[in-house]
Amino acid sequence: MSAKKVNKIAVLTSGGDAPGMNAAIRAVVRTGVYHGLEVFGVTRGYNGMIDDDIFEMDSKSVANIIQRGGTILKTARSKDFFTPEGRQKAYENLKKRGINGIVVIGGDGSFKGAQKFSNEFDIPCIGLPGTIDKDIAGSDFTIGFDTAVNTAVEAIDKIRDTADAHDRLFVVEVMGRDAGYIALHSGIATGAENILIPESKTDMEALVSALTEKEKRKKLVNLIVVAEGDEFGGGNQVGDFLKQRLPNADIRVCILGHIQRGGAPSCLDRLIASRMGYHAVECLLNGTHNVMVGIEDNKMKYTPLDNAVKAKQKISEEWLKIVKILAS
Ligand code: F6P
Repeated sequence: MSAKKVNKIAVLTSGGDAPGMNAAIRAVVRTGVYHGLEVFGVTRGYNGMIDDDIFEMDSKSVANIIQRGGTILKTARSKDFFTPEGRQKAYENLKKRGINGIVVIGGDGSFKGAQKFSNEFDIPCIGLPGTIDKDIAGSDFTIGFDTAVNTAVEAIDKIRDTADAHDRLFVVEVMGRDAGYIALHSGIATGAENILIPESKTDMEALVSALTEKEKRKKLVNLIVVAEGDEFGGGNQVGDFLKQRLPNADIRVCILGHIQRGGAPSCLDRLIASRMGYHAVECLLNGTHNVMVGIEDNKMKYTPLDNAVKAKQKISEEWLKIVKILAS
């Protein structure tokens, strides 16, 4: 913990963008200004820290952004920040402005960077979980997840209409490199027959038997939602496998892709982003340093960056059971 009083802070977004990042930036800037702090924005994630792309922000700089997707600060996955030279440069650029507190809005890769940086230098970092994947422990929600799931649900509902019209089986791939939360939530909410996620091994033979049995029962709409990171493969692999094994079925694959990352943030994402952004600044001021600010059971939760980096959320057995029963 740094004993120095924090009076100049910087905010940045890092990793994949997520709807609600702008609402979080707004909350950090406005809370900082409220407390009389000098607030800086860093562009393109850690790259901006290294390249000295840092500028002063005030209340007006964040006007009219709460409803916007993407991030006004832009974002990047910085390779250079994972080198000691990169972090040294970043430190010097912050130091020459007297910046003595950072808020990083991003995913676990971004927290790894923040953790390394705060271990090496005397600048405390606060992480805000900003990722559509919800693959970080220590928070019931991550900024962007709710919007992404709602986007996926809207798209899958549309796919259901055309699947129904043609009696087709659709394999829909949603995002989630290492985590199946988007698949699980959107799959349950759209009544998918099966949901394939990286956290649980899929028995492909059992899937084929279940679909064959449904074919016999003339169960018409079949939607299978696959997380891109499923251990069997993404939508295309699953589609190819099923086409081979179910030659009579009319099968199509739809990859939703980056549409899930864009768009106006949902109300929930705006709320959690605002709340987390506010508490990030409070943490810097009250000495709760090098933590990720999360929300669990509607209460603020502060997880040391070390743990937020290592842990993943666990998929509850109850959800998996519900999927099976409701798809029968
Ligand atoms: O981490 C968020 C995420 O959208 C993942 O779900 C996905 O695998 C990845 O980012 C895609 O990254 P990129 O935008 O670099 O292709």
